Amino acid sequence: MTLIISGSNGYNIAQNISTILKVDHINAGTTKFPDHEMRVVLPSSINRETVFIVHSICDPVNDNLVELLLLSDAARAAGAKHITAIIPYLGYGRQDKAYCAYGSAAAKLIANMIKLSGIQHVITLDLHSQRCAEFFDSIDVVDSAEIFADYVKEDSIFVFPDIGSYNRAKKFAYNVGATMFVLGKRRRHDNSCYMCVLTDNIDIYAKNCIIIDDMIDTGETLCQAAALLKQYGAGNIKAFITHAVLSGDATFKLQNSCITNIFTTNTIPKQINNDIFTVLDISSILAIRAMNLR
Ligand code: R5P
Repeated sequence: MTLIISGSNGYNIAQNISTILKVDHINAGTTKFPDHEMRVVLPSSINRETVFIVHSICDPVNDNLVELLLLSDAARAAGAKHITAIIPYLGYGRQDKAYCAYGSAAAKLIANMIKLSGIQHVITLDLHSQRCAEFFDSIDVVDSAEIFADYVKEDSIFVFPDIGSYNRAKKFAYNVGATMFVLGKRRRHDNSCYMCVLTDNIDIYAKNCIIIDDMIDTGETLCQAAALLKQYGAGNIKAFITHAVLSGDATFKLQNSCITNIFTTNTIPKQINNDIFTVLDISSILAIRAMNLR
């Protein structure tokens, strides 16, 4: 028997998956002590063999990470035999190596904490890198190209602002028959970057360009990439970005950039009140992966 448990941020996706798979869904309760220490309580005894926990490690990232660990521990204590975490957005994934000689490769530690909490398998979407996936013993990384591909309506040039996602990008571009235009990015610091063109043998003059990336955080990468494309004469510029982190004034910056549409997903539950964004539901592609594990 299978059960889906959602934490404080996974309710909608968990409910959609439960409808698609026709399995029960319960929502766990979370309370906090006065010093913000968290307590997680399941609504009843679960008494099921297979449990799926749906929860993103999104803002507030540290609280949501701890909540995921506590949800798993509670499910294990309540008798779950096999626990899969469906983590639509896996925060800390971008720290797949230490920033400097005296830094932490945080993604590896987080993967170990997830395993230690009793989670035996992870289903997630578009990780920052293959290296991050390798920190887990058992992981299924779903490619959101499966849903974005439906929105490639015309001949387009696919633009990748980051060489890190090159392999995923190459497969996506190949599958839809698009040409790739690769940019190189250097960071000045976490909120600022500059771009250069790595494949300048491709003419993008007046062509429709689609920028593809795993996440928008400050929006700096997207804005800089779009500005550079315009310098090269690009026509209409759209973006397909899986995780809408959208920190600070990112939405405002993007609204005032030369990007006309941003297609993103609901891996992070966030009200995005802006016409430039189209939010696509990833529940069905996660449900397909979960179905294979029931
Ligand atoms: C970084 O390597 C990622 O792939 C994204 O390009 C990056 O995290 C986006 O961040 P921001 O929106 O702050 O530029």
